[in-house]
Amino acid sequence: MFAMQYDRFGGPDVLHLGTTDAPQPRAGQIRIRVHAAGVSPVDVGLRSGRTPMSARLPLPHIPGVDAAGTVDKIGDDVHDVTLGDHVFGIVELARLGGASAQFAVLQHWAHKPTTMPWTQAGAAGTSIETATRALDLLDPRPGMTILVDGAAGGVGSIAVQLATARGIHVIGTARADNHDLLRQLGATPVTYGPDLTNRLDALGVTRIDRALDVAGAGSLTELLHLTGDPTAVVTLADFTAPTHGVRLSMGQLAGEPDGRHGLPAAAQLFTKGRFRVPIDAVFPLTKAADAHRTSEHGSRRGKIVLTVDDEPEG
Ligand SMILES: NC(=O)c1ccc[n+]([C@@H]2O[C@H](COP(=O)([O-])OP(=O)(O)OC[C@H]3O[C@@H](n4cnc5c(N)ncnc54)[C@H](OP(=O)(O)O)[C@@H]3O)[C@@H](O)[C@H]2O)c1
Repeated sequence: MFAMQYDRFGGPDVLHLGTTDAPQPRAGQIRIRVHAAGVSPVDVGLRSGRTPMSARLPLPHIPGVDAAGTVDKIGDDVHDVTLGDHVFGIVELARLGGASAQFAVLQHWAHKPTTMPWTQAGAAGTSIETATRALDLLDPRPGMTILVDGAAGGVGSIAVQLATARGIHVIGTARADNHDLLRQLGATPVTYGPDLTNRLDALGVTRIDRALDVAGAGSLTELLHLTGDPTAVVTLADFTAPTHGVRLSMGQLAGEPDGRHGLPAAAQLFTKGRFRVPIDAVFPLTKAADAHRTSEHGSRRGKIVLTVDDEPEG
């Protein structure tokens, strides 16, 4: 099969089109012919060689943890799909990649709603899993108010919608350019950065019951002040969390219960018109280096996604 891969760590230009054996699904897994695959911060960090997990990667490595496509092979003990089904999901996370390719093996999946574009489906998996897991940990009740810090990005934009669907009021932080997006997703927008409390006061917000830090930009002290309770705060990206007594959720890789049940739930919300995966930028698979560059630089308005054609031009 063809795949975008890298043989050494470094900048986006280490990515190149190559060929390799198609992966085989093990028990509990399926293989898909990929139509779209997401590009996430973790893919970029691993490729750079700067994250400790890079050391675990055998090279060459195919990046990408999210994909959507047509089921073409089914492992043992799988009973909820048939060949030809359209699904979206997450690769086996221990492999830390494999999605930016002609074929990918999925560990968790849900059926793609017929009307969901491939681009949205391809980028959805880990963002839905992560947002679901974080909301499960925070366990906000209907009527409560949650603050999502970094609400316009891949995970944040999903967390806003899943929280809203649970009947929770959402205040989302983003740069001013993204405030309209947050309103469309159902959140009250506020600009991120220091002195958040003052800006919330100006908005007339008197109570924050829960806070989810998606950005990891150093807001934990302020989020603790706002909620008054370390157990009411979860971060996905701030590794200083233990010094604040705050929970850092790393999911399956840390042996935590995962949020895979969020995938079919989000698909159902999509069919009801209550959920979408905001897409920031779409690139053909062979332009994966440009997609990684986009992910590295600047702000987000949802996810970055690669589309996979039958015969890519190298
Ligand atoms: N622990 C886990 O299980 C897990 C899972 C998935 C991802 N993550 C991590 O979570 C982080 C976010 O992932 P993502 O996919 O959502 O990334 P992303 O799509 O790049 O979004 C990051 C968002 O952070 C916002 N941001 C930038 N500076 C900020 C600041 N000072 N305060 C608040 N927000 C700020 C940006 O907002 P604007 O666009 O409005 O500027 C952007 O939308 C990454 O570090 C990723 O590695 C962790």
